[in-house]
Amino acid sequence: MDIYDEQYVANLFNRMSKSYGTANYISSFGFTERWRRQCVQEINWKTEMENGYDLMSGMGECWSLINKAAQHSHQLNGVDISPEMNKVASAKANQFPSIPIQVLEQNVLQNSIPSNSADYILSAFGLKTFSDKQLQQLASQISRLLKSNGQFSFIEISKPTNKLLLLPYMFYLKFLIPLIGKLFMGNSSDYSMLGIYCENFKDCASFKNYLEEEGLEVVFKKYFFGCATGVVGRKK
Ligand SMILES: C[S@@+](CC[C@H](N)C(=O)[O-])C[C@H]1O[C@@H](n2cnc3c(N)ncnc32)[C@H](O)[C@@H]1O
Repeated sequence: MDIYDEQYVANLFNRMSKSYGTANYISSFGFTERWRRQCVQEINWKTEMENGYDLMSGMGECWSLINKAAQHSHQLNGVDISPEMNKVASAKANQFPSIPIQVLEQNVLQNSIPSNSADYILSAFGLKTFSDKQLQQLASQISRLLKSNGQFSFIEISKPTNKLLLLPYMFYLKFLIPLIGKLFMGNSSDYSMLGIYCENFKDCASFKNYLEEEGLEVVFKKYFFGCATGVVGRKK
């Protein structure tokens, strides 16, 4: 079994689509919502924009935050590989009249999105299900999609370097996520997978290097003492 196979990941999120929102919120004590907000706030919304992308957009969890933050009406494109996550996202897409939203059901690593079309690209919690090699491919896609001066912001749950936080972090990954998954789905194995992905991913450091190799300007960010990390930057 290859846990980084795209079809495997799509099936996992298809199965989790019914419970993902609530389980995610409860198991993170509301932190995920705060981190999404911080990820969205890293974009400079004052600049003129026509076209933005929310990659690994899930059920559109970032869209109300983007709608609040955006100062210019523009086309927002959600990109996600899971048909079931996209079904929920599509039903939400017309809730934000000032920002037209379309859902693109695509594998972001082999997408058909035009080059140099993105004023911004953001993504919350969409990195952990990629292997190191796939993160490198993703970095190359980010570079291809961004317009010159286009901005990006990514955030992902990460392994804190502070030893005091490691214990609650491991408790969260190994115990709380599967438990909440069991309570909501009667089956904890899919939610245990999220823990395994997080443990393998560690933090955004290697993704930062891949983005830099693509010639992008990148800043590594820590949120709540490194329990989430991110990369923020722009294409020169
Ligand atoms: C943990 S969810 C994050 C959803 C949302 N962004 C949020 O803030 O909660 C990760 C999403 O990434 C999607 N995904 C994983 N691999 C993908 C790929 N190769 N291409 C597009 N979407 C992918 C999954 O289907 C899933 O909906």
